[in-house]
Amino acid sequence: MISMPIKLSDDLAALQDTARRFAEDEIRPVAAHFDESGEFPAAVIASGYRAGLLNLVQGDEFGGSNLSILEACVVIEEIAAGCAGFATSMVANDLALTPIALDGTPEQKAAFISPITTGGSFASFCLTEPGAGSDAGGLTTVAERTATGYRLTGTKQWITNGGVSGQFTVFATLDPALRHKGITCFVVPGDAPGLSRGKHENKMGQRCSNTVQITLDGVEIPEANRIGEEGQGFSLAMRTLDLSRPLTAMIGVGIARRACELALQYAKDRKQFGRTISSFQGIQFMLADMATAVESARLLTLRAAALLDAGRPATLESSMAKRVAADTAMEVATDAVQVFGGYGYTKEYPVEKLMRDAKLLQIYEGTSQIQRMVIARELLASGS
Ligand code: CAA
Repeated sequence: MISMPIKLSDDLAALQDTARRFAEDEIRPVAAHFDESGEFPAAVIASGYRAGLLNLVQGDEFGGSNLSILEACVVIEEIAAGCAGFATSMVANDLALTPIALDGTPEQKAAFISPITTGGSFASFCLTEPGAGSDAGGLTTVAERTATGYRLTGTKQWITNGGVSGQFTVFATLDPALRHKGITCFVVPGDAPGLSRGKHENKMGQRCSNTVQITLDGVEIPEANRIGEEGQGFSLAMRTLDLSRPLTAMIGVGIARRACELALQYAKDRKQFGRTISSFQGIQFMLADMATAVESARLLTLRAAALLDAGRPATLESSMAKRVAADTAMEVATDAVQVFGGYGYTKEYPVEKLMRDAKLLQIYEGTSQIQRMVIARELLASGS
């Protein structure tokens, strides 16, 4: 329906086409099933991995697809237009591996990125805790120093792919009283004694993305598993989120685009009062606003991605993109249900799932309120 506002290289156009075909041929036929069952679609995601659709922004020297953020956005939109739950699961490795890519030594990158990217396995980003969601600086998972490294104790909440991950990027504090100044980043192997995985959360939407609680009960790790310096973990988490929020925003764009496509088609087919509902101005205005919102969210997201790719600070733009794309996904999916009327409210049609899937965009990777807070702080700090 709507095309990218940038010229894609031949390689990227081919990868976009691969992602689109993967979404149409492999995700869409099974999306309702996995939404209903809440199972993790391991075999389908493994097929996406073989097609080069995971580890998108990891460097090729460490087994990744070596895409820029903007290029990864192009791919993620297609996957998310298939199913946002799949997209969330497929993009989670990039979130978990980026702290290592940013602050890890070459040895750590080889030890902790390559085995995940080349082994087709999963890694999880563990910042959030039961008592520390929006207030990430208030986390209380403790890292005690030992003779050879650290002992981690605490609980991590809403961990994407946590039930299937082979490795965890864990943010823990040397002293909760220090707040963000004590937070440090560690890599924890999935089979570490003392690490346990909770049950898969029974979510409203994005139900096939695996979400669990992770408990660390005196998990011992060597010093070589600390990423960056002690006390630098909070800033590392924030820098990681700056880079990953456009990728998440694009999941919102994918949902909104799909909702728009479905509503447009339905409006052209559905007849009331002797004519198609697309001939009514009330519906036309809704469709016009939906399509415009998709374009706006995509442009804002690609702009944030381009700034990040250019190495420019883009905390502001990254949060703007995430805020707008998340709210757009919710609004456009809700309007799609409205266009479908009573049918849209049933599971016989795919738009109610889009509405449920969209809601998570306004919550994870920083709520829409946190994005507004970040945007306001950046505006006020810049003085312009
Ligand atoms: N880049 C680098 N450093 C940054 C930064 C950034 N973008 N933002 C903040 N910092 C630094 C600050 O400069 C400051 O450093 P100094 O002490 O050296 O000055 C330090 O971090 C503390 O900053 P703040 O005072 O701004 O911290 P705060 O406690 O007020 O919190 C916040 C800021 C923006 C609200 C932050 O807590 C936040 O982003 N919260 C939301 C967390 C979040 O997004 N969680 C999602 C988890 S991931 C997830 O959901 C993924 C999934 O599985 C799907």
